[in-house]
Amino acid sequence: MFIVANWKMNLSIKDSIALAKEYGKLFKKSSANIVVCPSFTSLPFVCKMLESLPVAVGAQDVFWEKAGAFTGEISAEDLKELGAEYVIIGHSERREYLGEEDWMIRRKIEAAFTTRNLTPILCIGESAEDHERDEREEVLSRQLSEALDGLSLGIGQSLIIAYEPIWAIGTGLVPEPEEIAYVTDVIRVLLRRYFGDRSDRACAVLYGGSIDESTVVPLMESGVDGFLVGSASLKAREFYRLAERVIN
Ligand code: 13P
Repeated sequence: MFIVANWKMNLSIKDSIALAKEYGKLFKKSSANIVVCPSFTSLPFVCKMLESLPVAVGAQDVFWEKAGAFTGEISAEDLKELGAEYVIIGHSERREYLGEEDWMIRRKIEAAFTTRNLTPILCIGESAEDHERDEREEVLSRQLSEALDGLSLGIGQSLIIAYEPIWAIGTGLVPEPEEIAYVTDVIRVLLRRYFGDRSDRACAVLYGGSIDESTVVPLMESGVDGFLVGSASLKAREFYRLAERVIN
């Protein structure tokens, strides 16, 4: 099981270090894959703090080129050098506020795939309007096919897909467990189409959107491989209780 904390742009460097320290105390041992994704500026400090603990670190974005005149961008190799093992790509907030498009997301996934031991966490999800128009499957299938077009899974390469319906992020609304189970199956079928049967071992499908220690409980039966958690990951104890529910 994966339990991924996306701290977004919520914490100062000082607060990120303090929260990472608390995570470190709580997650001395864990049977789940705990991943924490701080901001770029906090990343080196959080990596250092969690270095010898069973909590992996991820970035919240990456650029697709290795180096060059790309003001403000960060390469996959730089993330690796700091100790990041995961990177969130294509979060709906970046799609909405930064104009990130599927072709950019595809290039970012490719950059992660060509960097050893850097696993992309590709976020996909329909808007409230798509949901009302009953176009969820078309949207998810388009987002997946455009992000993964022409890419292959190398030996040892993994991919995580996070299904995050936009209408469920930060709203307290969560889809029914049966709906999440259905979407998870649809995603797995599509992944098999792109990558063959290997995808069953190499890919994980997570759910994200208003997950906390109570909303997670009914979703345990939905067949997902874990959760991507926003606001409930900003308090160490709350996140730990959530993780305990998932693990036990
Ligand atoms: P919330 O858990 O705050 O709804 O955020 C979900 C999310 O966007 C994680 O990436």
